[in-house]
Amino acid sequence: MTRHFLTLRDISAEEINRLLTLAIDLKAKQKKGVSQRFLDGKSVGLIFEKPSNRTRVSFEVGVTQLGGHPITIQGSEIKMGERETVADVARTMSRYVDAVAIRAFSHETVAEFAAFSSVPVINGLTDLYHPCQALADVLTIKEKLGALSGLRICYIGDGNNVCRSLILAGSLLGFTVIVSCPHGYRPEAELPYEYVEDPVVAAKSADVIYTDVWTSMGQEEESAIRKRDFAAYTVTSTIMANAKPTVLFMHCLPAHRGEEVSEEVFESPSSVVFDQAENRLHAQKAVLVNLIGKQ
Ligand code: CP
Ligand code: NVA
Repeated sequence: MTRHFLTLRDISAEEINRLLTLAIDLKAKQKKGVSQRFLDGKSVGLIFEKPSNRTRVSFEVGVTQLGGHPITIQGSEIKMGERETVADVARTMSRYVDAVAIRAFSHETVAEFAAFSSVPVINGLTDLYHPCQALADVLTIKEKLGALSGLRICYIGDGNNVCRSLILAGSLLGFTVIVSCPHGYRPEAELPYEYVEDPVVAAKSADVIYTDVWTSMGQEEESAIRKRDFAAYTVTSTIMANAKPTVLFMHCLPAHRGEEVSEEVFESPSSVVFDQAENRLHAQKAVLVNLIGKQ
């Protein structure tokens, strides 16, 4: 059976720990200039139905650093589900490339693609999940704080794709995610998280304060109403002061200063947002090596 990386529901605690160990090793060797051509001669398709900076660049650079060949395809070029079915794109593309990463509006698109693909499919963000982001996030926390088990990670903001994937990472790695948002924006109740409506209370004793945009890609029409609903949820210095003195501020980026985070917090010494962004590269290289690397 073809293995995919669509959500963190697909992997075990042992597997995520192995990916983290591999990512740390790949990162250290890359910094030393050691050649690591695990993808020699392999091609990886990268399909983007939505804009991207980090995901696209880190996948293109990551595949290249591993000796492979990335092919980026904009959603508007292939028009999956319109010009031809998702199933037909998947069955065609998997005759050419060795793996495909997809950023899509609907998680269903990526799931359907994977069902028809004979090569591994990686989720590069959907409306429901962003597993590559969560893997880079936990790599960053591990580097900064040492261990993940037992930590309190306070997510202040929309119960979205990034939030869901962080919660799933927590359930695999033994940290608690405390979500703080207006009631109507909570992640599904079946997910394992704590809910605290008041962000100042939620931040108490947190090891990490995490936020993301209030309006995700594809929700632009709701922007005004979301700005109103989330007005009390900006991560400010007051909120940060309620957490542990060693607290990290995290954000998957892109950020909107003055909305989900203040300029002061974003630029503060606690902020590790660009380390997170860098770790997208190392974490995704580990996923690629794990799925299609020559051992
Ligand atoms: N964090 C993240 O996925 O960034 P991009 O949307 O720029 O890829
Ligand atoms: N929740 C955001 C994340 C962007 C990386 C979105 O889906 O637009």
